[in-house]
Amino acid sequence: MDLNPFSHEFHADPYPTYRWLRDHAPLYRNDALDFWALSRYRDVLGASLAWETYSSAEGTTLERLDPHLFDVRPMMIFLDPPRHDRLRKLVSRAFTPRRIAELEPFIRATVTRLLDRLVADGGGDFVTDLSMPLPMEVIFTLLGVPEADRATVRRWMDVSLERDRDTPVIPERAITAMAEMMRYWIEFVDALRRRPNDGLVSALLDAEIEGDDGARTRLTDGEVIGFCNLIGAAGNETVTKLLANACVLFARHPDEYAKVRATPGRIPDAVEEVFRYTSPSQYQGRVTTADVTCYGRTVPQGSRILLLTGSANRDEREFPDPDRFDVGRRPEQHLALGYGVHFCLGASLARLESRVALEEFSLRFPRYVVDESRCVRVHMSNVHGYEHVPFAA
Ligand code: HEM
Repeated sequence: MDLNPFSHEFHADPYPTYRWLRDHAPLYRNDALDFWALSRYRDVLGASLAWETYSSAEGTTLERLDPHLFDVRPMMIFLDPPRHDRLRKLVSRAFTPRRIAELEPFIRATVTRLLDRLVADGGGDFVTDLSMPLPMEVIFTLLGVPEADRATVRRWMDVSLERDRDTPVIPERAITAMAEMMRYWIEFVDALRRRPNDGLVSALLDAEIEGDDGARTRLTDGEVIGFCNLIGAAGNETVTKLLANACVLFARHPDEYAKVRATPGRIPDAVEEVFRYTSPSQYQGRVTTADVTCYGRTVPQGSRILLLTGSANRDEREFPDPDRFDVGRRPEQHLALGYGVHFCLGASLARLESRVALEEFSLRFPRYVVDESRCVRVHMSNVHGYEHVPFAA
């Protein structure tokens, strides 16, 4: 059995491969694609915590990004401490739990508006009509992206993550989209520098913290541009995938859906079970900074290694009957939002958006069916989910 993160068959159902890896090759080596992988929960958790040995500095996907690409516009997700911590600390000042909680009425109003059309039509495409526009409106409102630009920037994001079948070579269209997006954020931050407003990005341009040496520092424009680029993508793609995965799962498991409808207070647990069961981010890539020996083999320093979150969350050593979708499971310890220093900065926002969307959706669509023969999957390196999910009441 081989693990090929670019295989369309693998995207359709990665779980038999993961189970085989956990049982037969918990430290897996792929010579053809030159990478290693850890698949058991305990190993993924341990490596996520050991950032000194498992570095993010060369990107977090299997396909390697040019490490110099982000020198001027760094993104915290591709940095190790202490550079990572400085950025995270500064950003966390503007990205506060209060600022996130205040978004709930706006999120509910956006969900309601999007659902009104779906109700009138008796269904539609869950992704294009709901799970894609919702996080887009939320993140872009938070960042202050003008409405006229939103669909274009969102499209660049999708294309920048697209990968061709069976190859780690980043397609030309993805590279062009990445460049377009970066140019957009450069102009965006430049405009805010000249005319600040009361939004998150202006707050970031202003934020100051005291360093270990007592000196006060601010984010550079490049760091703010990197941040916009990062949360623009991280805040959009994953929530879109999580919600559409939930839509498909509840259609497949009407009994579990009935439990949620009967007791809406169970929705937060149900969201965690969707995170666990079909993790939107299937692996976190790292590079080893030293030789690592486990399961009798040595991973040399400088090796690419994938921490297979999607597999860890289905590990029978951690979760009883892991392939059963069970909204009563309370799987708080899943790894779908990462662990350790890179734990998802947007976790509370992702949970808030997902809860509100499912609360409102389940009220309006107590029964629905998904036409799985017409569902279309995305083909990205570590992002798992759909670009079309047709459903009807
Ligand atoms: C379903 C929703 C989401 C999922 C599954 C998800 C997943 C993840 C994972 C697995 C990581 C860890 C990456 C690593 O260890 O290399 C991460 C980090 C991150 N996420 Fe999320 N995320 C979600 C939503 C969001 C949202 C809504 C935002 C922003 C508003 C966001 C912003 C970030 C950022 C900035 C990081 C990097 C944190 C750091 O390096 O310290 N994410 N996310």
